[in-house]
Amino acid sequence: MKEVFPSPPPLVHNQFEAVRDLFSKNVVPSYGRFDLALSHGSGSYVFDVAGKRYLDLGSGIAVCCLGHAHPAITEALVEQSKKLIHVSNLYFTEPQGRLAAEIVKRLGAGKVFFSNSGAEANEGLFKLARKFGHDEGRFEILTATNSFHGRTMAGIAATGQDKVKKGFEPMMPGFRHMPFNDLDAARKAISPATAAIMIEGVQGEGGVTPATPEYLLGLRQLCDEKKLLLFMDEVQCGYYRTGKFQSFQRILEVGQASSLSETRRQDACATFLPDGISMAKSLGGGFPIGAFWVRAPFADLLGPGTHASTFGGTPLACAVALKIFEVIERERLDENARKLGEWLKRELERLAKTYPTVVKNARGLGFMLGFELAEKIPAFASSDKPAAIQFTNRMHQAGVLVIPAGAQVIRLLPPLNLKPQEAGEGIAKIEEAVKSLA
Ligand SMILES: Cc1ncc(COP(=O)(O)O)c(C=O)c1O
Repeated sequence: MKEVFPSPPPLVHNQFEAVRDLFSKNVVPSYGRFDLALSHGSGSYVFDVAGKRYLDLGSGIAVCCLGHAHPAITEALVEQSKKLIHVSNLYFTEPQGRLAAEIVKRLGAGKVFFSNSGAEANEGLFKLARKFGHDEGRFEILTATNSFHGRTMAGIAATGQDKVKKGFEPMMPGFRHMPFNDLDAARKAISPATAAIMIEGVQGEGGVTPATPEYLLGLRQLCDEKKLLLFMDEVQCGYYRTGKFQSFQRILEVGQASSLSETRRQDACATFLPDGISMAKSLGGGFPIGAFWVRAPFADLLGPGTHASTFGGTPLACAVALKIFEVIERERLDENARKLGEWLKRELERLAKTYPTVVKNARGLGFMLGFELAEKIPAFASSDKPAAIQFTNRMHQAGVLVIPAGAQVIRLLPPLNLKPQEAGEGIAKIEEAVKSLA
């Protein structure tokens, strides 16, 4: 018999247990996973293996900047894969050169090294600092408490949180931590061995805490005075998430709650630059790619043979990243992150005002937002799971993906092309969950 309707796509129902079983038998259990097995996505939504739909306000922890299954990404992948997926970095390829030029164009005179991940981008900057200080015997890198810089050995040594170091001691030497947003503490922490300072523009894993404009400018001055490199880890907070290409540009543009005069702020917007910036996550929209940019005076420090990565900057990864730049600019997604992000933040602030026994405060910039849950929410008392995990589970039941940060903070890191009605749906569902806890 002739088929009148095309058969529906094969939907595997209630396969969650089967998928989880595969993991418990075969996958190293290093992640704390939620009871969700996801199967496919479209735009700002993902679907689990039972067909349930979720609004994805986490975008794979700030990765899927164009949402899921974006046709431009698919097209770039298909077209480039027909030509060249990979060649060694022994050779030149046009996509890598063009992508580096796009990054340099948005930042300033300098050069780019390509890696596969954020941790690897940071590793490159750590090596750059070592090379920079080497002949003077300087090697130490200062980072902030509560920071997060990746899970490699140098990454956990650089990360200012004990929980990532526990069980992996001794730590790689050469990293010390200082309180975040505290210039005096930074000055005091510098030793004769210090070569660089690295901070996040907005601490992500640490709970969505933006650096202040004064801190950024003060660190720049301090690094110039002491001949240190200033690095910014923009892996999570960068790439238009805050409304500008990198978060420091947005922080200085907003100048929120700062004591800077308007002339000083404007001057800083035009001139401030760190010496090195690490990027990853949204750069590939889900396809793995990382990079660091290094300012011109230091751009040739890592000469031939000093640093490498087999998969760094493959033609395939770079073609995808180039396409994403194109879409973001054409559709003014930076503006979307800024404007819709401001609306989302105001809504979260409203929730904090309306339900103070559940939401303590809201913070962040653009599409990097967080809200802190109150310490003693009665409905959470019977479980020993942190409040952020329990709240996230409730959001999953309601059909929304959010990302916990630490024990008390919920992060929203939506795709840059989130639509106003999707933002509205997200807030309505968050409010429902918050209300039920008040
Ligand atoms: C600020 C920051 N730096 C570095 C990393 C590490 O990136 P990756 O997981 O790609 O190695 C992360 C990951 O969450 C991050 O948020």
